[in-house]
Amino acid sequence: MAEIVIAIGAKIVEYSVAPIGRQFGFVIFYKSNTEKLRDAVDKLEDKRAGGCFCCLNGWCPHLKSRFLLSRKANKLRHEMLDLLQEQNFGRISYPAPPSSFSSSTGVFIDFESRVLAIKGIMAALRDDRVYMIGICGIGGVGKTITVKEVARRMKEENLFDEVVMAVVTQQPSRKKIRNEIANQLGLKLEEETSVARAARLHGRIKDIKTVLVILDDVWETLDLVEVGIPFGIKGCKIVLTSQNQDVCSQMPTEHYFTIDIFLEQEAWILFRLMASNSIDDPNLLKVAEEVAKECGGLPIALVTIGRALNNKSKYFWDDALLQLKQSMSGNIPGVQANVYQSLELSYKYLESAEAKLLFQVCCLFPEDFDVPIEDLVRYGMGLQLFEGIDMLGEARKRVHALVEILTGCFLLSDSHKTDSVKMHDVVRDVGRSIASRDNHAFIRHNVRLEWPKIDTYELYTSISMTSDAITELPEGLHCPKLECLLLACKNDSLKIPNNLFDGMRALRVLDFQAMRVLVLPSSLASLKNLRTLSLRNCQLGDISVIGELEKLKFLSLYGSSINILPKEMGKLAKLRLLDLTKCTDLETISPGAISRLSD
Ligand SMILES: *[C@@H]1O[C@H](CO)[C@@H](O)[C@H](O)[C@H]1NC(C)=O
Ligand SMILES: *[C@@H]1O[C@H](CO)[C@@H](O)[C@H](O)[C@H]1NC(C)=O
Repeated sequence: MAEIVIAIGAKIVEYSVAPIGRQFGFVIFYKSNTEKLRDAVDKLEDKRAGGCFCCLNGWCPHLKSRFLLSRKANKLRHEMLDLLQEQNFGRISYPAPPSSFSSSTGVFIDFESRVLAIKGIMAALRDDRVYMIGICGIGGVGKTITVKEVARRMKEENLFDEVVMAVVTQQPSRKKIRNEIANQLGLKLEEETSVARAARLHGRIKDIKTVLVILDDVWETLDLVEVGIPFGIKGCKIVLTSQNQDVCSQMPTEHYFTIDIFLEQEAWILFRLMASNSIDDPNLLKVAEEVAKECGGLPIALVTIGRALNNKSKYFWDDALLQLKQSMSGNIPGVQANVYQSLELSYKYLESAEAKLLFQVCCLFPEDFDVPIEDLVRYGMGLQLFEGIDMLGEARKRVHALVEILTGCFLLSDSHKTDSVKMHDVVRDVGRSIASRDNHAFIRHNVRLEWPKIDTYELYTSISMTSDAITELPEGLHCPKLECLLLACKNDSLKIPNNLFDGMRALRVLDFQAMRVLVLPSSLASLKNLRTLSLRNCQLGDISVIGELEKLKFLSLYGSSINILPKEMGKLAKLRLLDLTKCTDLETISPGAISRLSD
């Protein structure tokens, strides 16, 4: 066990803080300058592991050093905080001044996952056959920091005579990029035309024997010729970073690397450092661990939230945890500006309106739930998200294509489950804030008391709610705009009023999950626009009222307890899909119940 402590301690080189607008993060810092800090951190790790927290996440105390260090550690911690304080992030700014890689301040966290990525990138850059590589990853994962560290090491090893870097951003200005690079090469571009300026820069770069050009934060393919960056010539290598994998594959990169979110242990180390004052308080340890978990290994979230909570009272921590659990972390200081903004850009930058809408649908699912692609197909069809698509087979292809777009820019990720996708917790929070703001989605999961009483549900277009505690659904809720209602109110005593759907005439998608609905409310018959009805894992009785849903196309009774499929099903002239998977109690299919389906 003790070995684990040592191994982890040894990986930490140094730390720091620092959201700088969108360029969040921890910045690179030189080992030579940081021996002291490293020392302090290592010893502090010892102290923490041995002092306040016994056997934390499987890291057990350094028994010997436990008390020896306890007094010294306090002093060291203050030294470290002073050092951290000295790292003034205001000093890191773009464009990087010439040779800035050797003088930037701040801290680089030498975690194993990053070390591996950096090694891989450096190996690729040493390869003579490689001219361009891409580095991609979700917003806030540390791409810029990683690439800066690569640049620094490359310079240190004298692999390149010059290393230049330009920030491209979503609205790339060729002039700005050109000037940034030219400045770093000590070149003044005074030519009249942009073609001439590009040619001059091109010529200058070509003259350098070995040069590394870093293009940070690229959002779409960039015409290097127009900027004046030579491509494919010996000695000139290009690295670009992007939040979109497609950009890396559309530009002529020989390799691309994905920077992953932190592993749990790495995340905890970083979080502890950011919130160090508080985490020294044993009363806060448990809530701190939970908060750290909610950050889902995303460095920007760990840094921002850790710093926001440092030295705060338990009330503050508990409240923050609640907000994180309710996907309302945008209320925690700094989170909106630092964490949400960069992720929201990925969303804003989606060209496909359908991809945007599908992403919002994904945000309706509860957190601990992978999103089945087939659900997206059925909801999407019900909501008519896909233009020009009427056939289920086509819709499936479209959804897979859209999912690929969303995965490519890290808004979704692959799930272990087949035919499902996942969403990073922080991405979901951002998505929910977008869905609530732009599309009036009302999303509440794990509601602990009763149906949330708010002034009005009139504006909402989607409601998604899960609860074990709600025992009563509201009478005749007035929701004239509601198109999508997803409920998992699992309490066995649940009462559903007959007029539940009276005020929801626009409803297109209705999904009840694991609910006891022995009598379907009669007002269901009034849902003349309903396209998708999903009653999954429900306890059902008589479902013949479903026959009134003239436009129903997709009906799933997956895993529900029904004995009889009534003849009224035969009235569903538009039905395209009837899912009776795992309906093990089904005994009788009434004559005519599914004959229309074969059309
Ligand atoms: C922590 O909070 C206490 C009281 O709330 C304050 O006196 C102290 O200066 C704070 N420490 C830091 C490092 O902010
Ligand atoms: C169902 O609701 C009742 C009454 O509110 C509550 O006592 C019970 O704990 C709930 N059941 C579950 C499983 O939460």
